Amino acid sequence: MSSKHAENSTSTADSESVEDLPLPPSPPGYPILGNTLQYASDPFEFHDSAVEEYGDVVRMDLVGGDIYLMAHPDFFERAMVTQQDAFEKTDDFEIAFGENLNAVEGEQWERQNEALQEFFYPGKIRAYAESMVDMIEARMELWEDGGEISLHGQMKDVALEILFGTIFDRPLDPEGDEELRWAANSLNEYFNPSSLVLPDWLPTPARHRFKKGKGRLNREARRLLAEREEEGGTGDDLLSTMVEVRNSDSELITETEMIDQVAGLTFAGHDTSGLSMAFAWHLLGNHPDVRERFYEELDDVLGGDRPTIDDIGDLTFTRKIMQETMRRHTPVHTVPRRAAKDIEAHGYRIPEGADMHLSIHRVHRDPRFWDDPLEFKPSRWDDMSTIDKRYAYIPFGEGPRSCIGERFAKLEQLLVLATIGQKYHLEPQSELDFAPEMTSQPSNPLPTTVHER
Ligand code: HEM
Repeated sequence: MSSKHAENSTSTADSESVEDLPLPPSPPGYPILGNTLQYASDPFEFHDSAVEEYGDVVRMDLVGGDIYLMAHPDFFERAMVTQQDAFEKTDDFEIAFGENLNAVEGEQWERQNEALQEFFYPGKIRAYAESMVDMIEARMELWEDGGEISLHGQMKDVALEILFGTIFDRPLDPEGDEELRWAANSLNEYFNPSSLVLPDWLPTPARHRFKKGKGRLNREARRLLAEREEEGGTGDDLLSTMVEVRNSDSELITETEMIDQVAGLTFAGHDTSGLSMAFAWHLLGNHPDVRERFYEELDDVLGGDRPTIDDIGDLTFTRKIMQETMRRHTPVHTVPRRAAKDIEAHGYRIPEGADMHLSIHRVHRDPRFWDDPLEFKPSRWDDMSTIDKRYAYIPFGEGPRSCIGERFAKLEQLLVLATIGQKYHLEPQSELDFAPEMTSQPSNPLPTTVHER
């Protein structure tokens, strides 16, 4: 590891001296374009080599403006817990999805968070286990022994089916609803790297797809909401919960905010989960020793029966497989923030108004915090918990703005692994390479052969 990494991870400077600090170093780039081409052609490779060479804080000189890459647990602690006010959310989520929980700040966030927390409490989520398994089984029925699937496509599909079937109580047809699936998948287009480096007014094909997809989802949201209003918000789903909260005169959430949650949650809640499960199967496919231990646990705990909520606590090795998967290949690779004032960062100055990319991807593979970071070793979690690794392990973020769907996602991951793993062995036919957007998108659909166990 380069000696340029700051030794003292908790250094601070008072506000008078911050303005005298130098800007962080920037890797050499091309005239005018700066680091744009290097970044756009392979963001992970650029992040990795820049941090190895220049340390935990790097200035990326991009056509759209400088972005500061920050790769140390300190920065996550400060951005998410101790200095949230200095590390503001960027506008991206609000421009993309409107007034949804992921985007808003201050009093508006507090209101929305209170309205939505009503829905995400543990008892509510646990009650979804059975219908989650139904939806996983319905998807598996489309597979056949010896057939080929797109691992990425299938895991995204099942994640969307689970999200819509539970949270929105709008079951999807496993063999249909193509338009809605297309719309949900197009949301990532807003964060296509071309959108980051090109001016906002340029109508790129990615931006067009994003707009069309979001329009489709908003229409669906209005339709579902009208249905729930008619029923008086008495159902078990999130939209009914929001309608009920609103009808209680608490003024926690407006009509627009309710509609905007649908696109926001569809983006935040299906792409991420789908990726995590695709990565888990890919890793299992390539690690026979881990796979055998996984099968042993399934056979011991479930003995061929459908998993239920009562089995979840006993699937301890399966849980470690998911923890390690999310370390090795984190679905959200970067947490974007904007500097609300000049910020001191390991002896450098991040200027007020600057965009920062806090790199989960880098911290999860930093040898200062992980032994053999590139190895997939679920057993590394035998002697430690995620709490021990705080801020060096942050797949769901931390603090008040951490993932509201974490419990939901963890339950879904375990049920998908347990239900499919009892029946099938999935054999990946390609390497896992990345073409990252806002999330860690694989560069190919991950063709995979399905074998009955
Ligand atoms: C493996 C799956 C998931 C991963 C890796 C993940 C990751 C994250 C991360 C890192 C954040 C923090 C972002 C930040 O600080 O800027 C976040 C926030 C959020 N996530 Fe997730 N998420 C997952 C699943 C879900 C699901 C299933 C839902 C909803 C059903 C969801 C809804 C949200 C929302 C609404 C926020 C914003 C919370 C706030 O700002 O108060 N996520 N997620």
